[in-house]
Order: sequence, then structure tokens, then C-alpha cells
Amino acid sequence: MKISLSDIDRQRFGVVTAKATLDGSEPVPEVMQWCGAHGVQMLIARCASTELAQVQQLEQAGCFLTDTLVYFLKRHIAQQDVALPDGYTTRLATAADAEAVGALAGLTFEGYFGHYHVDPRLDKRDADLVYSSWAANSCGNPAVADAVVLIEHGGQIAAFATLKVHNSLEFEGVLFGVHPGHQGKRLYHALMQLAQNWARGRDIAHMIVSTQITNLSVQKVWCRQGFEPSKSYYTFHKWFEGAGAAAGGAAQGAAA
Ligand SMILES: CC(C)(COP(=O)(O)OP(=O)(O)OC[C@H]1O[C@@H](n2cnc3c(N)ncnc32)[C@H](O)[C@@H]1OP(=O)(O)O)[C@@H](O)C(=O)NCCC(=O)NCCS
Repeated sequence: MKISLSDIDRQRFGVVTAKATLDGSEPVPEVMQWCGAHGVQMLIARCASTELAQVQQLEQAGCFLTDTLVYFLKRHIAQQDVALPDGYTTRLATAADAEAVGALAGLTFEGYFGHYHVDPRLDKRDADLVYSSWAANSCGNPAVADAVVLIEHGGQIAAFATLKVHNSLEFEGVLFGVHPGHQGKRLYHALMQLAQNWARGRDIAHMIVSTQITNLSVQKVWCRQGFEPSKSYYTFHKWFEGAGAAAGGAAQGAAA
């Protein structure tokens, strides 16, 4: 069973949080027992959308749906010409860009529709911070991201894309954001091309990307660039009433 406590979520939301990735084989009662034994207050369980029997068991156990993630894959990425609009340039981020990239991610993901944002017991501002700190930590920290592609305009960062290599064959485009004042100029389309060029320069052939099923703008771009749907997951949350006191955590701020 792939389940563990998440320190980062506990610090951010003030509740003992467990994250589980389920493949259909794990008995849901065992997942719940694990949570009980570890004083878990909030469980975040991700389950392949093909595993409907397990999905129904999760629902019966009090889990509620918080998002649906779709993955797309392109098997043969190739170098391509990138046409940035006039006045825009590109470069890779360094550790010195962390603060600016974090601030931009905070702006682009404010009120996003990820699983943290749609859980009514979590503070939306804390949910925004998931993305800004993740993007900031991606700059210059290979444990989080292998590269962050930037597009700049007038000396300011207008867009960013964080990239993570999974193996010699495959990398992932993880977190992308375009400043609201620069949206609608095909910068996202350009970020996707720049990401593929970065990987081709390292002889990596496959690119994967994922998003919420409702994020149609990015899926349109993926289809136009030759990506194909590959897999999908449901994310569930469950709250355990009365848990956490033994583990020293109280649901401060999370029960609003
Ligand atoms: C999604 C996002 C990256 C798009 O950036 P962008 O640079 O404006 O996108 P592009 O200009 O390349 O346009 C891509 C397509 O999406 C469409 N699109 C852009 N924003 C849209 C919106 N809010 N609603 C519907 N379609 C939208 C564009 O019209 C275009 O489609 P079209 O050619 O049919 O017109 C940007 O809105 C953003 O940062 N959103 C918040 C964070 C996010 O969703 N990140 C991606 C997942 S990690």
C-alpha cells in the first residue's frame, strides 16, 4: 500500500494529512485502519479512474471527490521553432528567480480548481500557497524540478514551466503558469514547445503532462501539439472526525 504522512500538508493546513496512491488492489478498510493508527485527520487518496470498484469503496468509506486528473503523453517529441510574440524572450530560471516565480505562481493559481481548493474545510489562501511554494522550490532544486523555463517581458517574468525528468526516456511538464496580463498570447503554447526543445537537447523522447479534466485550454494546446490521452485518476479527500489530538494536531483554521 502506497501511503504516507505529508509533513508539508500538515505544516500548511495544520492537520495531520496522509497521501495514498491506490492501484485498485488495496482493501479500503486497511487504508482507513492505517489512517486511524497514525492519527490522520485528512486523507488525500488518488485512485486510477479504471478502478471503479475501489472508487465505490472509497465513497462508501466517506471519501468525497475533489478532482479528476487527466494525463496526456507525446512519444516522439521533436525540436521545433518557437515563435514568441515581439518583446518576449526566454531563459532558464536559477535559484535567484525563486521568489519571483513563486509570486507569479501565486497569482496564476489564485482560486484554482485543484483538490485543495475545492475542499471546503481548507483555507483557499493556504491552497494558493501549495502552488506558489511548489513553483518557488522548483527553481534551482533538482529534487523538485530539473529545469524551470521562463518567458520574460520588459525584464519581468511573464510565464513559467517547471520540468521534471523521470528517467532517460521520459520527462514531465509539471506546473505551468502565465501572468494574467500576458494570457491569450499563445505563451502557454510556446512554453510547451520550449519544454520539448529543452528535453530534445537531452535526448529525451517522451513528454507527459497532466491537469484537471476541466482545464480545457491546456488540453486543447496538447491536442494541437500531438499529445494523446493516456490515463486518468480521481482524487478523494476524507476527514476523520476527532482524530489528530493524539498526534498533537488540531484542525485549526481547517474547519472554517
Ligand atoms: C491555462 C494558461 C496556462 C493558458 O495560458 P495562455 O498563454 O493564455 O494560453 P494560450 O494563449 O497559449 O492559449 C491556449 C488556448 O487556451 C485558450 N484559453 C486561454 N485561457 C483560457 C480561458 N481562461 N478559458 C478558456 N480558454 C482559454 C486560448 O484561447 C487558446 O485556445 P484558442 O487557440 O482556441 O483560442 C493560463 O491561463 C494560466 O496560467 N492559468 C492558470 C494556471 C494553469 O491552469 N496552468 C496550467 C496547468 S499546470
